[in-house]
Formats: sequence, C-alpha cells, structure tokens
Amino acid sequence: MATNFPLSDAVTGKPIDRRDGRAKVTGAALYAADQPIPDVLHAVLVTSTIAAGRVTGIDTRATMAVPGVAQVLSHENAQKLPQGGRAAVDPPAGRVMTLLQDPKVLYNGQPIAVVVADTLEHAKAGAEAVRVSYATDAGVLGFVAAKASMYPPKKLNKGEVDTSHGDVAGALSAASVAVDSLYRTPMVHHNPMEPHATIAAWDGDRLTIYDATQFIGGDQKTVARTLGIDPKHVRVVCPFVGGGFGCKGSTWSHVVLAAMAAQKAGRPVKLVVDRTQMWGPVGGRPMTEQRVALGADAGGKLTAQRHDTISHTSTFEDFVETSSLVTRMLYAGEARATTHRLVKLNVGTPTFQRAPGESTGSFALESAIDEMAERAGIDPLEMRIRNHADRSPEGMPWSSKSLLACYRQGAERFGWSRRDAKPMSQRDGDEWVGYGMATATYPANRSKASARATVGQDGVAVVRSGTQDLGTGTWTVMAQVAADALGFPLDKVRFELGDSDFPEAPVSGGSQSAASVSPAVQTVCIEARQQLLMLATKDAASPLANVAASDLTIENGWFRSLADPSKRESVAAVMRRAKTPVDVEASSAPGAEKSRFSMHSFGAIFVEARVDADLGRIRIPRVVGVYGVGNRLNAKTAHSQLLGGIVWGLGMALFEESVLDSRNGRFVNASLAEYHVPVNADIGSIDVTFVDEQDPYINPLGVKGIGEIGIVGVAGAVANAIYNATGKRVRDLPITLDKVMTA
Ligand code: MOS
Repeated sequence: MATNFPLSDAVTGKPIDRRDGRAKVTGAALYAADQPIPDVLHAVLVTSTIAAGRVTGIDTRATMAVPGVAQVLSHENAQKLPQGGRAAVDPPAGRVMTLLQDPKVLYNGQPIAVVVADTLEHAKAGAEAVRVSYATDAGVLGFVAAKASMYPPKKLNKGEVDTSHGDVAGALSAASVAVDSLYRTPMVHHNPMEPHATIAAWDGDRLTIYDATQFIGGDQKTVARTLGIDPKHVRVVCPFVGGGFGCKGSTWSHVVLAAMAAQKAGRPVKLVVDRTQMWGPVGGRPMTEQRVALGADAGGKLTAQRHDTISHTSTFEDFVETSSLVTRMLYAGEARATTHRLVKLNVGTPTFQRAPGESTGSFALESAIDEMAERAGIDPLEMRIRNHADRSPEGMPWSSKSLLACYRQGAERFGWSRRDAKPMSQRDGDEWVGYGMATATYPANRSKASARATVGQDGVAVVRSGTQDLGTGTWTVMAQVAADALGFPLDKVRFELGDSDFPEAPVSGGSQSAASVSPAVQTVCIEARQQLLMLATKDAASPLANVAASDLTIENGWFRSLADPSKRESVAAVMRRAKTPVDVEASSAPGAEKSRFSMHSFGAIFVEARVDADLGRIRIPRVVGVYGVGNRLNAKTAHSQLLGGIVWGLGMALFEESVLDSRNGRFVNASLAEYHVPVNADIGSIDVTFVDEQDPYINPLGVKGIGEIGIVGVAGAVANAIYNATGKRVRDLPITLDKVMTA
C-alpha cells in the first residue's frame, strides 16, 4: 500500500477554517437539545441520594400538583424491558444501564425517576417535589478497604489482562539501579461544553433520537436492542457534538429513559442531563493506584519493568482503566510484567476518558523513568533515548515511529540543554524553576468505515458518512479529502455526517475517526471520479467525447484532456446532460498490515514549572510538545487538537479531582464551578509542532489519529518539572500546592 498524499496541490492538509465554525459561533448549529421538535415535553431525571439500598416509596402527589407535569416514570410504572434492560451491553456503546426496572439503588446519582412536563421549569419543580424513601445498605465506598477484594477483570478492550516476560523479580534484584513506587490518580469527570442530551420522538413504532453521542451507529443498535425493537426502526441524528472526550462513546441510561418517557407520554421528550448529574450516571475516569518497579544496569538500560494497576469500577459492571498497557510497548528491555485489577465501589460505572489508560499510565511510568534517571545519574531525555524501542516490545515492527526526531526537535525548541539536573538549582524571585519532560504515545487505531458520494446536476458532490464531529474537525477534513479525490474545488463538495441513515462508521473514540473515515471518503470519491470520467467520454455532446479515459483528468471541477488541454468542460455541464446522478457507496477497512505492524503515534513533551517557594503555588509558563502522527488532514485542526489535549493534561496534573464523600457516595464538588481546570493565569505558551512522518501502512492517506495523544505524558512531565524545581516528588495527582508544601 502506497501513500498518495500529500499531493503538492492538495487541499488536504491545508489549514482550512472549520466549515461548521460560523454556524457554531453564531448559534445556528443545532445541537441535540436545540432541535426544534414540535410538541416536545421536557424531562428531568430524579437521581438517588443514597449509594446503596433500595427505593421503598416514591411519593409523587406534590409533583403531580405542579402545573404542567404530565407524568412521573419510576420503577413502579416503567415499561418492562427485555432482559431487565440489559439486552445490549457490548461496549463501547452498550453498557449496563439503570432503567427503572427494579427498586435497587447501586450508586448515588442513579436515575430513579423521570418527571415529564410541558416546560423545563415545571419538570424541574416537579422533580424537586418527588419524595423518595429508601432502605439504605452500607455499600462500599472506601477504595483502600475495598482493595482487599480486588479481582482480575475477565478481559480488557485491548490485549491480555496480565502479561509476563522473563524473570522480572530476578532482574530487579540484580539491577544496578532500581525504583519501586506507588502512583495514584483520582476519579475525574468529563465536563464537555454540551452536557449529555437526548430528544426522543416516536412515530408509530419508529423512533428518532436526537442525541449528543460519539457513536450514532452504536446508539442506534443499543437503544433498539434495549427496547426490543428493530434497529432499522431507530434513527439517530447528531450533526454536532459539543465535546465528547469518551463520555459520549457509550449509550447511558438517560437516552433509553427519554425514549421510554416519550413512548408513555405519546409525545416527543427532551432530556438534558443536568450539570451536577455529570457526576454519576454518565461515567468518569476511574481512580487508579499504580505500582511501577524498574531496574536498570549501570548504563541506564532497563533490565526489568513491572507495572501493576488497580482501578475502581461499579458494583454492576467492569470498566478497566488500562494504565499498564503503556509499559508493554514504550521502552526496550526483556523482563517485563504488567497486571490489571479492579475494585468494586458503589458508584456509577466509570468509562473512557481521553487516552483512557495511557494518560494515567504514562503519569506513573514517566515519573518512574525520571526517578530512575536521577538515581542512575543520567539526563532524563538521554535515559529515554538509551531505552528507545526500535521494534515494538510486543513483537512486531512499528508501522512508523518518529520518537527520536520528536525528542530532538522538542529539546531544541524548549532549550532542554539549559536544564540543571540538581533540584532547587534555578530560582527566579519568589519561585523555584524546574524543567521536566516525558514521552507521549497512543495507539494508531483504525476500523472499517463506509461512505456514499453523490454528484448531481449542479456538479456538486455530496459525500455522506455516519460518523461524528466532536468539535474535532470531521466536517472540514472529510470535505478536504473528498475534494482532492474527486478533483473538485472545496466549495463544490458538501460533506455530511451525524445521521444513522448514512453509511456506517465507527465510534469516534480511540482517536480513530480521521484514520478510519478518510480512507472510506477517499475510496468512494475515487470511484465516483471514475464514473464521472466514463460519463464524459460517453457524452456525444461533450468536447471530451471519445477521449480515452486514461487521457482524461478532473481538476478544479473541470474535465480536461491531458494531451490537449484546450479540450475541457466543467463537471456541472456534463452532469446537466446526464440523466441520473453519479451515486456510489464504498467501504474501507484495515488490511493485513494491521496484523503485521504495531501502529502507534509518539511525541515528546517538555515543561517548565514555576513553584512559589513559600506558598507552593504552581504555574506552567511554558510547554513544548512535538508529535509524529503521520500526515495531518488539516494543519489547523490538528494543531488545535494537540493544544487542547495538552491543556487538559495540565488540568489533570494540577487541578482535576472529583472528591467522593465516603459517607454517602456523593461527589462533594459535583459542579462545573467547583471543578478546577486550568485558566490563563495557570499556564502560558504552548508550542505544538510536528515532525514529518510517512506511514505507508496505517491507511492510504498515512493518517494517524490525534484526538488523545495530546493529553498523554503531560502529567508526568509536570511532575518531573516540579521535582526539578523543588526536590518534591509528588506521586499523587493532582499536584496541588498542599502536596508540594508537605512532600
Ligand atoms: Mo476517547 S476516551 O476513546 O473518546
């Protein structure tokens, strides 16, 4: 497979502005809850206030007295669903939902009733008036105590649960230098600009769902199977997503509850998950406790690597934070062992959150590498170079890897050579200044995807795929790919997404949409172009009639003979005479390369930390990130993806933590206002660049995903920079000032 991109005159790769940008900033873009559905009723979730037990009574008299309240759905009157509502539990879309099928309460914040009214205000007033009584069980809320009952999960979504190669214990005890530390990362919760939201509208036995989702196809199948109806009778529409980050990769309870409520009410129902309800029924990143033990010889070469991850899940579904995966593939070396264990708590099931596994796992591993480098007396960057894996430690050659180039370019742009290895060696006024770095990596995933291209009489191509745009640029980049493959100018191409009636595409998760959907768009447009060429040569009225197809090209929306450029005609002119539009559907799937190569993106991240010597206040004035991610479909959206990922990595490093009240299972700071994220006063310049990388195996466009790698490595680099500044090694995220003061 050869890459045929970038073409020198291609629009693909150019920093084109987002095509949906104007609609978004002017408010014209219709997100799920904005869809103007006539006659819609408003639903509000009533959620449990205990962590474990059961509902013994629901008093709705006051609620029904609120004007405009149409109904209260609870376990007492909800539709009985096939298999107790658990007919579709295949992740990523299918998860174990809580759908009012019984009075059990499994976590605080669990939906226990749905109040439906004519207005949102009436529904809210009605929900507040519901009186619930409970029989409360003790429940399990303490991670430390619950660890006594930890267990291995049945499977991971990728790879084995545990791996072991060589004599790790022996190599550790024989090592010249060794570290063995515990690292902890907290529960955190997604806070996309757009919360989860669903409008469900029935037309007879057909259901249309306007949903905020990363996976319209998965939503469609999950809702259909859960309700026990034909997936063909469910249509999911989602033209815009106001951020997903993993939480919208699964179909959570509120989606099905909206459909149930709409069915009961006989009218469309809109259900927007309240901001505070983002903590509970819709996932979040699990907390982890990770033990990393490393051994190296005197030259700093790793001789042993061990990474054991314990993460929490709910009492009713296993979700694994796969933090140990990164240690399986990042550095060279023989002896290596990794494990994953779960601890059950009475909380909502956690879920995918940007770079699930890699972001948390790399914090531990990259901190441990920094600790090793110091013990070995080797520069941390040099330590990583000495342990560079030229082949994947998991056995296969890389499809492409530019990590050494990323290290070089990053060190240069950052000024790494100015670093003094000794902590507390740089002081500027009240602040200690430190430098730290880390490696970033994320799998280059790709799945089968399909697309359809139609060229009508106006000479405009409409290309459709059932994919999603989470704010990442799918609307724009797919139009760019289509324009180049067709030979059309960008303004003669419309790309449409977000409708399950369109050809199927995978979940926009695992950073795979660009790498999966662009080959399908390219393939279908190349086929459409072939049909256009045939049409022109067979059109007796065209100046191109009887020109050999091999002598004909399409450029900028015009047919042209290669031999005689004066022979030309616009695509629109030919299409006006054609009786039927050109209409093609095609798919593209990974080939044998997927099993012959290990496919990953890599990057290097460098951080300057400034820590107030008395107050422990931390600021990050400077970050340099350099990435090898194959070809970029759009230089501007790619840059924005990495920039955003790094900012979130800084939030993960310094601020984010959902504080669980172990008495009742509530999150103390379940509010966007009290949930801390970085602001301009905390961070400064973020310099994102790329190295040229051609990957001939990942897909025909040589495109690797970039949605998640940006967050990876940041927390480790920050921890390492703070150590270099202050001599305080904090192994427990977030690195708040109190920890720096007391470490
Ligand atoms: Mo990403 S956490 O797989 O949406």
